[in-house]
This record gives sequence, C-alpha cells and structure tokens, in this order.
Amino acid sequence: MAGTRLSEATSIRAAERGDLEAVAAIYNQGIADRVATFETQPRQAADLAEWLAGPGPFVVAERDGQVVGFGRVGAYSDRCVYEGVGEHAVYVDRSARGAGVGTQLLNALSAAAEAAGYYKLSSRAFADNEPSLRIHERAGFERVGVQRRHGKLDGIWKDCVLLERLLGEAADGR
Ligand SMILES: CC(C)(COP(=O)(O)OP(=O)(O)OC[C@H]1O[C@@H](n2cnc3c(N)ncnc32)[C@H](O)[C@@H]1OP(=O)(O)O)[C@@H](O)C(=O)NCCC(=O)NCCS
Repeated sequence: MAGTRLSEATSIRAAERGDLEAVAAIYNQGIADRVATFETQPRQAADLAEWLAGPGPFVVAERDGQVVGFGRVGAYSDRCVYEGVGEHAVYVDRSARGAGVGTQLLNALSAAAEAAGYYKLSSRAFADNEPSLRIHERAGFERVGVQRRHGKLDGIWKDCVLLERLLGEAADGR
C-alpha cells in the first residue's frame, strides 16, 4: 500500500522484512504488559516472518525513521466460509502511546483489509484494556458482547470483549 501521512512526523506503510526486529520488540512490550494477549513468551523477529507471508494486511507506523507501532490481519478461521473474516491486532510502542497512533493504525488496517476483500474484522480485547476498547470504538468497531472467563493469564481468568467491524459489501445498507 502507499504510505499514508498522519502528521508531519508519522506515516503508515506496508511492513517489510527489515521491520520485524522493531515489530517483535513492540509486540514483546504488549506481552510483558499483560494487557493485550494470553501469550506470555517473548517472540523473536524470525517467528514473525510468517506474518509477512500471510494473506492479510500487515502495516507499520513510522515516525522519524523509527517503527512505533504495527497492525496486522490474520486468519479468523480455516473454514472456507469465513475466509473473508480477518482477526486483527494493533500494538504501539510504550513511548508512542496516547498520541493517536493506535487509532490511525486501526483505521488504516481496516481500509487495507477492505481493499483486500475482507468483509469483517474481528478481535477480542481484555475487558480491562481501556485504551484498546477506546480505539476500537473510535475506529467504528462494535462491542458484540463479553466472553466471560475466556482464558487464564498468569493463572487468573480474563473476560474478553468481542469486537467487530463490517467492511465493504457487508457494511453497505445497514
Ligand atoms: C491499545 C493501543 C494500541 C492504543 O494505542 P495508542 O496509540 O495509545 O492509541 P490512541 O492514542 O489512538 O488512543 C488511546 C486512547 O485510550 C485512552 N486511554 C489511554 N489509557 C487509558 C486508560 N487507562 N483508561 C481509559 N482510557 C485510556 C486515551 O485517552 C486515548 O483516548 P482519547 O484519544 O479518546 O483520549 C496501545 O495502548 C497498545 O499498544 N497497548 C498494548 C497492546 C494492546 O493492548 N493492543 C490491543 C490488543 S486488543
């Protein structure tokens, strides 16, 4: 995709192999913060190469030559009927949070997913992840419901809010 200017200093563009070290570092912050994912083991850049090879959009936010966030769409299901549904994630470096990057990434990711033919993006946020719920609301995602005790993180049950946004044809005439 072409780069999208956000501000004087920040742009969003398709991820490249050379971004994976920075993307892994940002993802590992999210894992360490225990706010975003049930994963607890840090990832290496090489582990994320499959994200580049996958069909879904994978974008990064870049500021002053540094990758400060990323968003990606992966498969929601291996059932054919759901091939137009993507499961997405957005992560922003701790140093860059609260400045609108997450919202812009989510909007850019939705546009890229729609252009790629997806009719829905869906994901879950921990019910206590207020920044994530906020950016999803602002980017036009609906709260479908709460999945109670959807998994354990460090031995503690977590409730998840199921979020979705219709795209393209599915969003028309609602
Ligand atoms: C969620 C995340 C991507 C948001 O990125 P960001 O760049 O900070 O997002 P934005 O600056 O666009 O918006 C953040 C919003 O959350 C709000 N917010 C931040 N901390 C908050 C808190 N503790 N309680 C309530 N709202 C909060 C901000 O005020 C802002 O809303 P506003 O603009 O209406 O004031 C980022 O916090 C992050 O990477 N977190 C770790 C990974 C993660 O949770 N990813 C989502 C997985 S579902």
